[in-house]
Amino acid sequence: TEPTTAPGPNKPAPVTPVLTKRWLSPTSWSIKTYEQLEGYTALRKALGGTPEQLVELVKASGLRGRGGAGFPAGVKWSFMPPNEDKPHYLVINADEGEPGTCKDIPLMMADPHSLIEGCVIASYAMRSHHCFIYVRGEALHCIRRLNAAVREAKAAGYLGTNILGSGFDLEITVHAGAGAYICGEETALLDSLEGRRGQPRLKPPFPAAAGLYAAPTTVNNVETIASVPFIVNGGSDWFRTMGTEKSPGPKIYSISGHVTNPGQFEAPLGTTLRELLELAGGMKDGIPLKFWTPGGSSTPMFTAEHLDVPLDFEGAAGAGSMLGTTAVMVFNDTVSVPWAVMKWTQFYEHESCGKCTPCREGTYWLTGILERMVAGQGTPADIETLLDICDNILGRSFCALGDGAVSPITSGIKYFRDEFLALCDQNAKTSAPALAGAHS
Ligand code: NAI
Ligand code: SF4
Repeated sequence: TEPTTAPGPNKPAPVTPVLTKRWLSPTSWSIKTYEQLEGYTALRKALGGTPEQLVELVKASGLRGRGGAGFPAGVKWSFMPPNEDKPHYLVINADEGEPGTCKDIPLMMADPHSLIEGCVIASYAMRSHHCFIYVRGEALHCIRRLNAAVREAKAAGYLGTNILGSGFDLEITVHAGAGAYICGEETALLDSLEGRRGQPRLKPPFPAAAGLYAAPTTVNNVETIASVPFIVNGGSDWFRTMGTEKSPGPKIYSISGHVTNPGQFEAPLGTTLRELLELAGGMKDGIPLKFWTPGGSSTPMFTAEHLDVPLDFEGAAGAGSMLGTTAVMVFNDTVSVPWAVMKWTQFYEHESCGKCTPCREGTYWLTGILERMVAGQGTPADIETLLDICDNILGRSFCALGDGAVSPITSGIKYFRDEFLALCDQNAKTSAPALAGAHS
């Protein structure tokens, strides 16, 4: 199917089978299937050019980081020094841990060779001869699949020494994390890879200046790198025919919660929730939408008023949230907002690495207050206390985890203050589950 352009207002989002185009093929993960479906043709093409040409191509495509922050990938690659005084490293962040996010693991399971081909091309562009894929430890099935794909690629001459006779050498190591959310933060990931306890490092220096083993390093998300072979084959102009001017290209949206058919849906950046819901079969059992996240729990929630917000980096930010990981979690009106916010806050408290005081102490106090409110023991001062603690975490924490932890609370209170107030009414003695009904 030909890739399609961004949908217009009220027009259903067209599926753009680019990143997911091989997913439904039988044995889509095998090198044989991959090669039959244009696999490794981009690598041959890339090795015929120079590293500089590749960096310029990715810059021109406008590809932005798919891990959540949206930093321009080609610009990040260009920060790598041109000399090779120290070894250069490419590190793939496959520690997908943001609540609701399920795009990278399905990608690696269905089409691991697209990631491996992307790794070889990106390593060539950045003069790296060792690439690490850091996978969250719980995803053992994915680690096995990647290791099998690395072995296949090596046996076929796409990895190892003198790749396809080009003189370029690359090894890929698949590394299992140990289940800490913070190890998805790029510098904590590097610490973990070096064998230390994963905690964020001060930036700058950014990894391109001093990353893994203090050497020049680029950390990229799985979906970002898996997009690269398509850009090499299709060209930057083709890539820009999808998505929006500042957020070009296709994107895998992972949709979960109260929809008829949850799962991964590929659509151009800029697609709206209204359009995504059509792809996911609409709200489950026709129960109305109440709130949703555009990109995981770290992105401020939206409501039914935001159905037509274009889900690209600018559109989500313009409406008061962030695109994040495009993890669209959909909740119907049986769900209590304070209850959902409490569950997310418990997660952040548990995953706080403890390095800085605002996040370590703040998430502890936020959780305690929310648990008390949800149990029907809230006090009239609780909402202001929650907001005050959030104010002391936001922008004052060492890494993005602290900022993310306050998003569900501040946005939940912004849109559903009455529900929080009801839990603080000493006379009503309402508890959240009683307020909410069933949480299916
Ligand atoms: P960031 O904006 O600080 O950095 C993004 C990338 O750009 C990094 O690789 C960084 O090194 C690079 N960068 C930024 N400014 C730079 C500069 N001046 N010079 C050189 N390089 C620069 O964002 P961060 O903290 O890496 O990520 C936050 C995002 O992560 C959030 O938006 C959230 O959506 C997402 N996230 C994703 C998760 C997942 O499971 N994929 C989990 C949790 C959060
Ligand atoms: Fe650790 Fe939280 Fe501070 Fe990040 S914000 S360094 S996770 S304590």
